[in-house]
Amino acid sequence: MSEQPLGENTRAVHLPPAPVPRQEPLGTPVWRSATYAFATSQEYADVLGERMPGYTYSRIDNPTSDGFAAAVAALEGARVGGVTGEAFASGMAAITGVLLAYTHAGAHVVAPAAAYGGTYGLMSELLSRFGVTTDFVDMTDPARVRAAIRPETRLVWAETLANPTMAVADLPALAEAAHEAGALLVVDSTFATPVVCRPLEHGADLVVHSATKYIGGHSDATGGVVVGRPGVLAPVRAVRLHTGGALAPDEAFLLRRGLETLPLRVRRQCDTAALLAAAAARHPAVARVDYPGLPDHPGRETAVRLFDAGPEGTRFGAIVTITPHGGPEAGMALADGLRLAKVATSLGGTHTLAGHIASTTHRQLDEQALAAAGIGPAAVRFSVGLEDADDLIHDVNNALTALGRIGERDGAFNS
Ligand SMILES: Cc1ncc(COP(=O)(O)O)c(C=O)c1O
Repeated sequence: MSEQPLGENTRAVHLPPAPVPRQEPLGTPVWRSATYAFATSQEYADVLGERMPGYTYSRIDNPTSDGFAAAVAALEGARVGGVTGEAFASGMAAITGVLLAYTHAGAHVVAPAAAYGGTYGLMSELLSRFGVTTDFVDMTDPARVRAAIRPETRLVWAETLANPTMAVADLPALAEAAHEAGALLVVDSTFATPVVCRPLEHGADLVVHSATKYIGGHSDATGGVVVGRPGVLAPVRAVRLHTGGALAPDEAFLLRRGLETLPLRVRRQCDTAALLAAAAARHPAVARVDYPGLPDHPGRETAVRLFDAGPEGTRFGAIVTITPHGGPEAGMALADGLRLAKVATSLGGTHTLAGHIASTTHRQLDEQALAAAGIGPAAVRFSVGLEDADDLIHDVNNALTALGRIGERDGAFNS
């Protein structure tokens, strides 16, 4: 049978593949292929059946996304070893993955009263429809957590540093309480990053991150990741495959690149945050500053005990909540008076971001609930970026001083 010359379209589709270099690329290659061709049907069946390593389809596994998850696992598990990761399309997809993996109708979860709003909503509005109940308790008090645990409790959910009060979770005490009851301790460590604290070293079974924040670090990519030992992570992987919340390779590229500068960025952001917190605490227009690096913060001792001490001492995170005197309008005026810091949602990027808490991230909470969560009506959360500390402090001081002047003029903020 004579060979028929291939037509133009066929030749265009069946182009020679791009070379795969033998040398290690230092920039992360982006594997955009959604599907992979096999030499034989047997190989296809074996890879899909997980009898042979390989890639079949990007919703299942993607080399760029897997590389990102493995890199986070290497940082979180640096001292405990044997840790792997699963990458998700967002922090919320990662949180959903863990919750669906470890709960079922009739199961119970103990979670922070001050949990991130998305997590709170997922647990209270969505999971509750499937018969999973959640008790939201003060996580800084292990006795209350212990009291909330029931025989059906499958998960104790904690946040290393809570939003926006920067309450510090006593992870070993929470791990002990969870494990005694046969439950897992899951820690959302988005605010801490593995630079500040590595919860697996303190008894956590799984660590979750919104990689959109510090890990990516430049406010240009959305992603999430869960890390833990392979046996604990396997059910989370199964949910990821079922629900399809896989991380896209382009995002994985950006997030993995962010990891290379994570320690440099986060240390610098923490140092600037400490200076800003101290400066704000001295300003007469300020009623309160929440930052665990300050001597009067209730979580300081726990942070010193659990957080990475490093050669330059403990870092306490880079979120500072500044509460001026007055009501909600004082908080909004403070945020609006800033020139360098941007009024925006999210955190962990190179730009300093500020937001009035009661009218934005915690708008669902009434005055009483805000007070119970330790949030003043005028509180403004700052995610400290990479600007020079002096410039940022100058910006915040100016906005606070202007606020003081307005308050003196019309008494508006003295409520
Ligand atoms: C502590 C925390 N966890 C999870 C998330 C959700 O992450 P994402 O926005 O990537 O879904 C956020 C987002 O703000 C967060 O602050």
